[in-house]
Amino acid sequence: MNKKVITTCLVACSIVAGLSLIPVSGIVAQDNGLAELTLNGGYQGPVAFNHQLHQTIVEDCAVCHKDFEKKPGALDEAKKTGALKAKQVMYKTCIACHRAKKKAGEKFGPISCSACHA
Ligand code: HEC
Ligand code: HEC
Ligand code: HEC
Repeated sequence: MNKKVITTCLVACSIVAGLSLIPVSGIVAQDNGLAELTLNGGYQGPVAFNHQLHQTIVEDCAVCHKDFEKKPGALDEAKKTGALKAKQVMYKTCIACHRAKKKAGEKFGPISCSACHA
């Protein structure tokens, strides 16, 4: 091979390699889901949940999503399969944090039934 062919090949190869690196390096934006969600609260009534506000307060998605997937209907699905008990997320995640914040003297979310369930 002469020098020109080698150079052309190197250029072509690095373009191909560069392109294939784009998805690998994760330039694809994170899907934060809807800003406002309505959660199924059973016979107690639906729960209006400001997802976006909580993403700002909590930062680590896993605080909530360790228990259910990042997709619509994931909570109900996990309760249906028995992966989660009814009211488990409500007590162990939502109310637990609101109580802890209150105790720490910080801004906190609702703790009484009717403040969450409409
Ligand atoms: C305070 C709890 C909490 C935090 C923190 C949280 N989420 Fe969620 N997220 C939920 C709940 C509850 C649902 C609704 C699941 C369902 O529909 O059953 C949800 C649903 C979703 C969905 C499904 C799409 C939709 O709009 O319904 C996506 C995507 C998602 N979350 C992404 C994220 C990402 C990314 C983060 C971190 C930046 C995050 N969430 C942080 C509670 C949280
Ligand atoms: C911080 C908000 C919040 C508060 C306060 C709250 N809940 Fe809930 N509740 C939820 C969420 C979110 C769910 C759905 C997730 C789950 O089941 O863990 C839920 C689910 C439920 C369900 C349905 C469980 C099922 O799957 O059948 C009942 C019943 C319920 N709550 C009753 C209550 C009662 C009674 C109180 C007061 C003692 C209360 N909730 C306080 C947020 C709340
Ligand atoms: C790690 C902490 C944390 C977790 C987990 C958490 N919250 Fe909150 N939540 C807060 C704080 C702090 C506020 C007060 C924000 C403010 O007043 O600016 C709040 C406020 C709220 C409010 C009232 C504000 C509004 O209008 O949206 C609701 C309703 C609420 N949370 C529901 C929930 C539900 C339902 C869950 C579980 C799916 C949950 N929260 C999980 C910390 C948390």
